[in-house]
Amino acid sequence: MAWAAIWQRGPEQGWDDGQMKLLVCGGAGFIGSTFVRLRLLEHGDEVTVLDKLTYAGREENFHDFAEHPRFHFRRGAIEDPAAVAAALEASSPEAIVNFAAETHVDRSIAEPDAFVSTHALGTYVLLEAARTHALRYLQVSTDEVYGSIEQGPFTEHSPLRPSSPYSATKAGADLLVQSYFHTYQLPALICRGSNNYGPYQYPEKLIPLMILNALQGDALPVYGDGMQVRNWIHSTDFAGAIGHVLEHGAIGEVYNAGGPDEQANIAVVNRIVELSGADQSQIEHVSDRPGHDRRYSLSSEKVRALGWNPRVRFSDGLEQTVAWYRDNPWWWEPIRSGDYREYYERQYGRSLG
Ligand code: NAD
Ligand code: DAU
Repeated sequence: MAWAAIWQRGPEQGWDDGQMKLLVCGGAGFIGSTFVRLRLLEHGDEVTVLDKLTYAGREENFHDFAEHPRFHFRRGAIEDPAAVAAALEASSPEAIVNFAAETHVDRSIAEPDAFVSTHALGTYVLLEAARTHALRYLQVSTDEVYGSIEQGPFTEHSPLRPSSPYSATKAGADLLVQSYFHTYQLPALICRGSNNYGPYQYPEKLIPLMILNALQGDALPVYGDGMQVRNWIHSTDFAGAIGHVLEHGAIGEVYNAGGPDEQANIAVVNRIVELSGADQSQIEHVSDRPGHDRRYSLSSEKVRALGWNPRVRFSDGLEQTVAWYRDNPWWWEPIRSGDYREYYERQYGRSLG
């Protein structure tokens, strides 16, 4: 299809399911690889992944589709214009979907540099590339750009009040995306998700960290009083929402995609202890995260009106996730025996057993 036709194509013209050519940046990570699996195997799309392979990006995440004839992988950074240009030339996509990010709040507090370069410069390079080729562009974003909320949910109209270097740089990237829509009419969309969980999540994040520590007999480090609340969404549901927004969203718009359930951290950890057969005495309350957001909650009415709904309830998804980590040590053993151990010592002031 000619670029001009893609430019004009939207939901009203039938931006329909299936057989799209996509450039997926950051597709070797947790949610990106889940999205690629979904688009490749369920929608029949042709997918090229461009990924820098930071500590969080892993070719192991492609294990079940690496040889698929419609899947292509290129190693490169989104802040590198030559790498982006080469990926576009090789793949001739209709759309760019950008997952590429530094994603761990604690790392952003300790070392913010890469967060600024990937989110600000990287997003800029991708937007310029999308503008040059008149490509549809979808930015994957987060509820953390809204900051913390005591009661009720954030909507797409809530002000941006990010509180960590992670969320501030993600908010900056979102604003840049919106500026390309307003200034250059780039057909751009933003999809903001709540806390994801599921298979293939790097074990620096709450749920996989607690599952692996529980299974391995390590301490379970709960920050502060553990009463912080998160709005949990299974990664397959968020991946589905992103595809849905790409196909059916109105250009220039933001869509929130939140999970069906909210839970306090301590309740999540208690349930993981039960599901993994660990001991309550493994739970330890440790120093709180600086500037810790107390509660996240997202209203997803706008994307629900487009026909998307989350399918996985947290109680079922958590049980399935504990089972996945228990059954797939091939995936996490290389992480727990590598650089992650040093990160863990720096972050928690103690070694893994
Ligand atoms: P992740 O940390 O598992 O993966 C990030 C991926 O981006 C990795 O493959 C990494 O190698 C790649 N990457 C990092 N910097 C890059 C660069 N400069 N150039 C190219 N590739 C680079 O992250 P995730 O949890 O899968 O999150 C994906 C996206 O979803 C992010 O944009 C994140 O902000 C957003 N998000 C995450 C959550 C969550 O709970 N994990 C919730 C909402 C939104
Ligand atoms: O809300 C979406 C965001 O969710 C994403 O944009 C981020 O990329 C993702 O990392 C996540 O951010 P959080 O900071 O909410 O997730 P994390 O898993 O780091 O922590 C979840 C909660 O658990 C938070 O309140 C901090 C707490 N926590 C976390 C860790 C790692 C602990 O109590 N102990 C821990 O060891």
